[in-house]
Amino acid sequence: MKLFITGGAGFIGSNFIRQILAPGRPHTVVNYDKLTYAGNLANLESVAKDARYRFVKGDICDAHAAEAAMSGCDAVVHFAAESHVDRSIYEPAAAIQTNVTGTFVLLQIAKKLALSKFVHVSTDEVYGDMAPGAFADENAPIHPSSPYSASKASSDLLVRSYVRTYNFPGVIIRASNNYGPYQFPEKFLPLLISNLLVDKPLPIYGDGKQERDWLHVEDHCRGIMAVLERGRIGEVYNIGGTDIVENIAMAKALLKAMGKPETLLTYVKDRPGHDRRYALDCKKIAAELDWQPQITLADGLRQTVDWYKTNTAWVAGVRGGEYRSYYHKYYENRDASLQAIAPKSPSGV
Ligand code: NAD
Ligand code: DAU
Repeated sequence: MKLFITGGAGFIGSNFIRQILAPGRPHTVVNYDKLTYAGNLANLESVAKDARYRFVKGDICDAHAAEAAMSGCDAVVHFAAESHVDRSIYEPAAAIQTNVTGTFVLLQIAKKLALSKFVHVSTDEVYGDMAPGAFADENAPIHPSSPYSASKASSDLLVRSYVRTYNFPGVIIRASNNYGPYQFPEKFLPLLISNLLVDKPLPIYGDGKQERDWLHVEDHCRGIMAVLERGRIGEVYNIGGTDIVENIAMAKALLKAMGKPETLLTYVKDRPGHDRRYALDCKKIAAELDWQPQITLADGLRQTVDWYKTNTAWVAGVRGGEYRSYYHKYYENRDASLQAIAPKSPSGV
């Protein structure tokens, strides 16, 4: 198959491309990416010269350029998104534009070109907060809390509508919190690890008791491959990890793994609208596609910490200019920045 991959220079997309271009695999790839602050061609150095790989710089909202790049491809795996919840809260316009309008543009083109499959990579965040002990299966109601999750839910609904109305070959994946090599350090785990590498404090939002379901990115990519090759058109597949962990427990595990003191833990003002708990029921993909996570959290964390310790040039590169001003504004001046965007915290919405 010739795959049109959007957002392949980001964290999950680049892991997916490296996985499917492993020696002997039959696929070829067109990686279409705008290279926003989150896109990094250094993630793809190992495949850049592979004859099966081609990179095209472009915006998914640009219908003309996207159609030219997608022509001749067989299937789409759609990763491109503004993927950070905090950024979507501070400046929502980019998330709405890319995640909603961009997905719509791609659906139109894939329909016109009659591609055979469109795998839409979505998130467990569309289900919103789960009550203690509850798990979302694929039929759980959509209940997004942030501009990011609302934009992803909107794009899921667009895909669903194309399947129903146009007999479009769409499939939706909803995955939990990914971690692993090449993740940009705005997200919790790489932010903590990269701060610990230079003995900086660890910012813990609110009481730190929010729970996340952690999935190693390589397990996620294997699940995406299974859905691409064998997933049923029109279906949603949840993909979750091996462990659901409180943020504070995760931070303490990292401190221990990196031999650093708990005095580095710093509680900071909470994220507005912060979801307390995500938890996925993944029985469907296990039963239908024989997919299970293979990497335990303990092994995955060890491998991830080692990767960040070893790849110092990559870490230094992504912690440069844009990231420094982001960190300064939303961590070092956190209270004032949050006050400016959400003067009154919403309650019970
Ligand atoms: P990322 O932020 O690391 O990468 C996003 C990529 O998309 C970047 O390479 C960026 O340059 C590109 N991009 C952004 N806007 C674009 C545009 N308008 N046109 C073309 N390219 C554009 O994101 P990620 O963490 O790799 O997430 C990939 C996908 O997986 C997203 O759709 C996200 O919603 C979903 N997802 C992420 C997680 C997670 O834990 N990271 C979990 C579940 C689902
Ligand atoms: O659940 C899947 C989603 O996981 C994906 O759809 C998103 O693209 C991805 O960003 C992620 O969203 P989260 O909001 O769960 O991830 P984040 O890494 O931003 O935060 C994880 C938890 O850690 C969350 O409860 C907020 C908290 N946190 C985060 C940061 C960045 C902190 O306590 N401190 C921090 O500095």
